[in-house]
Amino acid sequence: MNKFFLNLGVQPLANNFLKKFSSKQPTYNLKLYFNTKTKMVSISKRIPSSVMFNSKYPYRSSMSSTMQSSFKQLSSEIKKKFNPKLLLEIGSNDGALLTHFDKDRAIGVEPCKNLAKITRAKRYYTYDDYWDLKLSSKIKKKFSEVDLIYSANTLTHISNLNEVFKSINLILSDEGVLIIEDPSLLECIKNNAYDQFYNEHIYVFSAIALKNLLKKFNLEIFDVKNLPTHGGSLRYFIKKKNNKTRNVKLSVKKQFDKEIKNGLDKFKTYKDFATKSTKSKKLFIEILNKIKNNNKRIIGYGATAKASTVLNYCNIDNKIIDYFVDTTPDKSNRFIPGKNIKIKKYKKTLLDNVDYIYLGAWNFKNEIFKKEKAFIDNGGKFITHVPSPRIINK
Ligand code: TYD
Repeated sequence: MNKFFLNLGVQPLANNFLKKFSSKQPTYNLKLYFNTKTKMVSISKRIPSSVMFNSKYPYRSSMSSTMQSSFKQLSSEIKKKFNPKLLLEIGSNDGALLTHFDKDRAIGVEPCKNLAKITRAKRYYTYDDYWDLKLSSKIKKKFSEVDLIYSANTLTHISNLNEVFKSINLILSDEGVLIIEDPSLLECIKNNAYDQFYNEHIYVFSAIALKNLLKKFNLEIFDVKNLPTHGGSLRYFIKKKNNKTRNVKLSVKKQFDKEIKNGLDKFKTYKDFATKSTKSKKLFIEILNKIKNNNKRIIGYGATAKASTVLNYCNIDNKIIDYFVDTTPDKSNRFIPGKNIKIKKYKKTLLDNVDYIYLGAWNFKNEIFKKEKAFIDNGGKFITHVPSPRIINK
């Protein structure tokens, strides 16, 4: 049974960066639920994939050096451990991972046509379709089977998880490996990162909920790794249950134990998270108002989907935050979804005469702090809302 635990209010689509601000953009009510049987945490409202992931999708995987080096490292690990004859990436974005593999051994699936175009131009075989049974059958006809499927921050964006895993089962070889990577619910709860929830993040997986889901498809997790990306992610290594060539590693039990210890299987944990998120909102608004009352200047850094959730939940607009800076080409000269705050193409001088920077991309704190050492050395300060709202300068 799905039990409600948190209402994050009326929200715009978190990647809807408009050229001209309009208060009349599409919105939905963002509410979070915990399923007491499957232990899955999800949002209630399902926006059609075609509305969220289309040729205007702005997010680019290769925009940060942290992500680039993470993909580079992973590709060497995959080659060394699994040496796949054919790898399929679901949600290949701009090819940040794919391009580390030979062109005849890697194929991509990317429904956002603007992004699929980028890997196609680099001569990687890329399907610009949504991941479903129809597409999986089409790929099967052409390639017969694949022995490694990788998917990062994509499967949790698809409403029909039954079809997702059926489609995977159809094409994955018997001894093949599925690697998926998504924000960790445990880290999200620990960080009080309520901003991990928005229209695209339909689910935030715990290892426990994923295990329950995979069971239905005769799949099982055989290894799991904690990653620092996206504010704390889990990389799951999954195999077919009948495949006895790989043992289930101790890391899997350790992750389950940790999640149980932190109550991820209990509704009360989510009620507590909701209470903390409400408090976080109050404190964040207080901190920003206090700074503004002292006539100081605040800007935002990293126009993330997460920031859009925070600013709309806390109702922060351009009276508080002058503008955002961001390196993503398709976000510049546009507005934060739902808010009259302009995003400017990042350049260092945009940080001149700024007193405080709200860290929209808090998950890239280390990378950004390194890059903006001069701002900090000159007395500039950052503001974050994770794990609780505060001013930071180290
Ligand atoms: P990310 O946290 O991956 O986004 P989301 O919450 O939307 O999934 O995105 C990071 C954003 O921050 C992206 O728009 C690029 C931007 N960014 C910068 O502008 N400068 C930087 O130095 C870094 C690391 C990120």
